[in-house]
Amino acid sequence: MRGYLGTALTTAAALVLSTSLVKAADVEVLHWWTSGGEAAALNVLKDDLAGKGTGWADMPVAGGGGEAAMTTLRARVTAGNPPTAVQMLGFDIQDWAKESALADLTETAKAEGWDKVVPAALQAFSTYDGKWVAAPVNVHSTNWVWISKSALDAAGGKAPETWEELVAVLDAMKANGITPLAHGGQAWQEATMFDAVVLSLGADFYKAAMIDLDPAALGGEKMVEAFNRMATLRSYVDDNFSGRDWNLASAMVINGEAGMQMMGDWAKGEFLKAGKVPGVDFVCIRFPGTQGMVTFNSDQFAMFKQTDAGMQDAQVQMAKAIMDPAFQSAFNVVKGSVPARTDVPDTAFDDCGKKGIKDLAEANTNGTLFGSMAHGHAAPAAIKNALYDVVTAHFNGEYDAATAATELAAAVEAAK
Ligand code: BGC
Repeated sequence: MRGYLGTALTTAAALVLSTSLVKAADVEVLHWWTSGGEAAALNVLKDDLAGKGTGWADMPVAGGGGEAAMTTLRARVTAGNPPTAVQMLGFDIQDWAKESALADLTETAKAEGWDKVVPAALQAFSTYDGKWVAAPVNVHSTNWVWISKSALDAAGGKAPETWEELVAVLDAMKANGITPLAHGGQAWQEATMFDAVVLSLGADFYKAAMIDLDPAALGGEKMVEAFNRMATLRSYVDDNFSGRDWNLASAMVINGEAGMQMMGDWAKGEFLKAGKVPGVDFVCIRFPGTQGMVTFNSDQFAMFKQTDAGMQDAQVQMAKAIMDPAFQSAFNVVKGSVPARTDVPDTAFDDCGKKGIKDLAEANTNGTLFGSMAHGHAAPAAIKNALYDVVTAHFNGEYDAATAATELAAAVEAAK
């Protein structure tokens, strides 16, 4: 009798114990956040999920812009083994949704009122066929310049506001014996700079060329001018730029070797990780001539369809965690981006972050907010890749500006 009761109690105790130890399924997260600043931001997400009982299996695939990550993803899906959650940009989300590969998050989105707080420009990518298929974690933008404060002071101290002023500052930095422009020679980095250069020739021009893919804009005089500007910028880059990762280019500005970097605001994450302070150690400006305009990209997490109920639940928990306002503040303060929700206060953000939030809201109101071509928010991957090829070939001296514009129009037309 005693023995029986003892056994029963032990079993009950074991049951309680095992229930409290049952761990929710781990989410396997495919992403390309591998630099120091990116990893710091990723940890904010990992820790948040851990606090809510959702485990994390890491699947990093290095490479800014996510090209390599998307190749790995395709292979995993083809092999019948998709990751649970995937960092994804703009048109890629739409492409996977079209293939019916993504889990439907609509129920969660409705219960949590996502449609009221996520700007329409983002919802255009987070939803497909009226259903929510991704949770946006941030908004980055690509038309930024990150300038070393001491290098700028030595070059006259005034942040450039026009193309001519920019060239003058670059010249002064060259005369001061540093590399004026820190750049990593990878197609996506050149395309990122190209976003800003095209935008600097006018909002209408950016829209006509990059969003509407108008052949006259892609191959016309203004595009020749854009390529001329790219060639001018190329002349301020050091000899060892080829293949350099973007975060190593950021490091050149951080350690005083170079004057500035033209890069999306994920670069700010590197400055912060290195303990640098905006306004004191570095200055953030919009690419000269693009003040009041924003080319954006939003990192979203898409969930691949799963059959296991525990896994489905973990996906919902992750999506909810991502959309939590407090999380969006904590994460984006570290990442360099701004919240994907419009109801997150800017109080925790530094001056560059506050400017980013304000610029985004204003551009949205003024009709000067456009998807970034370089980061998958202007056109589908096939067109983006066609553009990458021409921009990078020109940057590496294969085409002159006029030929590049002609090639650009032809390549985009062929990829349509
Ligand atoms: C992503 C950023 C990332 C950057 C560099 C962009 O495409 O949106 O989150 O930091 O690539 O890796």
